Amino acid sequence: MARELGNLCYNVPGESIYGEITLNSIRQLTQYFSFPDDDWIHIVDIGSGAGYMLCNFAQCLLELGSERKIHLTGYEISAERARLSREIIPQLLEKDCKDMIEWEIYQADIQKQTMLPRTVTHAVSFDKTFTPALLAHMEKLQRSCPSLTNVVSNHKYPEKYWDLVARVPCKLRGSSQVMSFFVYKKKT
Ligand SMILES: C[S@@+](CC[C@H](N)C(=O)[O-])C[C@H]1O[C@@H](n2cnc3c(N)ncnc32)[C@H](O)[C@@H]1O
Repeated sequence: MARELGNLCYNVPGESIYGEITLNSIRQLTQYFSFPDDDWIHIVDIGSGAGYMLCNFAQCLLELGSERKIHLTGYEISAERARLSREIIPQLLEKDCKDMIEWEIYQADIQKQTMLPRTVTHAVSFDKTFTPALLAHMEKLQRSCPSLTNVVSNHKYPEKYWDLVARVPCKLRGSSQVMSFFVYKKKT
């Protein structure tokens, strides 16, 4: 049964910045996640923007009833968005789930990173403008991450290394647009 969390999301002022995926769509995506036996679920958002997607994934995972603690990591190239997300995230994470969630935002270009934190279990990303070179670099970082189980992206991943678990039509906030997101599982 879903845990009562109250209104974790959108209880801070601010409209959609770039058409974030809606909470309901993220709920559908998390249904396809697999979970390792670790004590923690560690989600990384590559291009974490204002932090909404990270918080929404955390809420949906808590709703699934997991007792695991959740670690959120964002990488964001824009200094302004990284700063904004550090203000927004504590407001989105209500008091009653603060004990369950740790988070940090790195203001960084993912292209310059040589690895992701080793404990990352799930990686999400959403951008229409990521270049093929950037996507290839992200995929390599994710593939070499030892604990990583699932990725969610609006881009396709190579079948050689990833099994497609689901293709989910997702709604974007403040838009009638529907965009396909893919949930992949790393091949073992
Ligand atoms: C469409 S937004 C998505 C934000 C967030 N994931 C969400 O859905 O709420 C994509 C973000 O990726 C960031 N970004 C683009 N290139 C990046 C890079 N090379 N490294 C880190 N972040 C990047 C952009 O600045 C932007 O904030």
